[in-house]
Order: sequence, then C-alpha cells, then structure tokens
Amino acid sequence: MSTTLVTNITNLVTNDPALGEGPLGQIQDAAVVLDGDRIAWVGQAKDAPEADRAHDAEGRSAIPGFVDSHSHLVFAGDRTQEFNARMEGRSYSAGGIRTTVAATRAASDEELEANLLRYLREAARQGTTVFETKSGYGLTVEDEARALRIAARHTDEVTFLGAHIVSPDFADDPAGYVDLVTGAMLDACAPHARWVDVFCEKGAFDGDQARAILTAGVAKGLLPRVHANQLSYGPGVQLAVGLDAASADHCTHLTDADVDALAHGNTVATLLPGAEFSTRAEWPDARRLLDAGATVALSTDCNPGSSFTSSMPFCIALAVRDMGMTPDEALWAATAGGARALRRTDVGRVTPGARADLALLDAPSHVHLAYRPGVPLVREVWQRGTLLG
Ligand code: NIG
Ligand code: FE
Repeated sequence: MSTTLVTNITNLVTNDPALGEGPLGQIQDAAVVLDGDRIAWVGQAKDAPEADRAHDAEGRSAIPGFVDSHSHLVFAGDRTQEFNARMEGRSYSAGGIRTTVAATRAASDEELEANLLRYLREAARQGTTVFETKSGYGLTVEDEARALRIAARHTDEVTFLGAHIVSPDFADDPAGYVDLVTGAMLDACAPHARWVDVFCEKGAFDGDQARAILTAGVAKGLLPRVHANQLSYGPGVQLAVGLDAASADHCTHLTDADVDALAHGNTVATLLPGAEFSTRAEWPDARRLLDAGATVALSTDCNPGSSFTSSMPFCIALAVRDMGMTPDEALWAATAGGARALRRTDVGRVTPGARADLALLDAPSHVHLAYRPGVPLVREVWQRGTLLG
C-alpha cells in the first residue's frame, strides 16, 4: 500500500473538534496523509510526515466527501411534464410515482444500471463519496429484487422500499399488497439490502401499515428508516423514533411532540430541501430541530418526481438560505449528519482511520458552498484514496 500526502490545503474541515477549531474541527494550512483507502494522518502541513508521493491542493479548501443518505436512483424515464404542470400551479402528489413505476418495469437491467451510474457519477463530480439508494419503482417481487441487486453492485447502503406506494396491481386490495411486501417480496429483497423504508403518508401507507412493514423488515435483519411527515402531519416521525430508526426523512410537517421525540431519541432528522424546492412546498424548519437538540442531516432525495437533483452543494445552499441553518451546520449535516443517518462512523469525517474520502473546493472555505450558490466549486474528489477522474 502506498501513502499520499495531500498538502497545501488552506482550510480543512475534519468534523472532529479534537483535531481543530470549532465544532467542525477546522485546520488552517492543513495536510492529510492517505494510506490506501484510509486516512493515516491529519494536521498542519508544516508537521506532515513523509509519504510516498505528494499531491498539491494548490491552496484549495477541503471537506469530507458528502454522505448522501437518501436517494432513489434505480428508475427509468423522467417526469418533465409533471414538473411543468407543477410550475403552472398543480400540486405534488404521491400518485406520480406510478409513472416512474411503469417506465422502470419496462426497462432492461442494463438501462437501469446505466441510469444509476450516470446519476452517481454526476453526484461524485459534485463531491458525494457515499450514497444510499432505494428500490420502490418496481413494486413486484421480481422488480423490487432486481432494483436492489443493481443498487448493491454500487453501494453498501441499499434500502428496500417496496412500500413506496400501493402497487397499481393491488389498487383495490391495499391489505393484500402489505401482505406481499411483508411476505414474498421481503423474502426476495432482504438478502440484497441493509435497510427497510416505508413512505408513511396519506395516499401511501398509514401508521399501522408502516409499523407492520418496518417490523417485518427488522425481523428479517434489516434496519429501519422512514419517509415521514413529508406532505402532511402524521405518525411517521413517532413511529421512526419508537422503532429506533436510524433516520426519519423529510420532517417537513412536525408537531412540537415530533420535534421533542427527535430531540430525545436516537433518530436523525434527515431534511431534503430539493423536494420542497421542486414541489414548491414549505421548507422544513431546521432551526427549530437544531435548537431543540435534534441531529439533522441533509440529503438530495434524488428521484425523478419530487427532487431531481444529485447536488449536495445545492441542498446546502437551500438549507442555509431558507431553513435557518448556518453554513457550518449545513456542511456538518451533509457530511457527518449523513453518516449518522446511516449509522456509520468511518465516513463523513477526515480523521485518522476514516475512509479516505475528500472533496477539494475552489474556494477559501466550505462557507462558499452557500455564499456562491450554483457555482461548481468542487474541483477534486478523492474516494477511498483514489482521485476520481
Ligand atoms: O422521497 N416521498 C416519497 N418518495 C419520493 C418521491 C418519489 C417520486 O415522486 O417519484 C420522495 O420525495
Ligand atoms: Fe425519498
């Protein structure tokens, strides 16, 4: 294994307060030594040890690679018409998912994998080094299992979302669909996934159905996470916290009791501002969650219906502008927060022993991600110790 010294970093975010200044553990005039796919050393450039080779960061700033803990990337087609209709005043509804289900079922494995690769390369160019992705556009035993098989070739963070909506094949028998999801579909899907998720919402699955699906997944060895309180108030957040889910995602409509549960439980509130942007909905209130003491993550929710962005920098800019987060809080949420939402300690930080994932920015610090929105500031991305081309 060979070592690489990445040096001449003007400002480094480590996310470890013990390594540098402030809550983000920032180091000025920093260097990082990568040893194979791990970080071996972090500190000031003047103290750096020898390495097999040196890489000049040319005065850029550096952050941990983004951890996008929520995406839906196994799909075919897009929903441009639906987006246009929304921008003309129509509102978002979960029913649009059926359009993508039809296109995804009709696509070959090769098409689905090529699409997934396209979006994950796009995300990587914008600094994402870890991503979670879900099934949920197949809704048959075979189509859900193949989505997970394809996803598992590209990430360890694979989520079974057979309970995205009731399959159109079961329009008159939602209970029958829940039986399928918790039975044959779960049996076929569990070997390919780490997580089980459910869209707990009016028009998708109610609290009792969601509990049955998550509990069945847990019995099969999967860990729970929940699409909760996106379009309306509902039981999703309380269910997530009660089941010790790693994350409750969306969290747009929260009662004081929901905020309190998130603040005192072990469940991360994952906010997905791309969805509110793209559906012209009200923003989730990150400030309220942070002030209450909840852990907040930011993710893209990249999907063709409600949030067709793969850009974590865009989500950071929205969170800072419209959700009451400071640039430091948003950067933490998009890196360490995402890692927490995936119950990972090896990513989302630049510390000795962590995975060698770094994004170098053409900017003096990460603050410019929100200060200069829409500008492609991510210049270099290191993933598992390799500089992506
Ligand atoms: O997270 N909320 C449910 N699922 C997606 C939307 C999927 C779609 O519209 O295709 C979401 O926003
Ligand atoms: Fe989602």
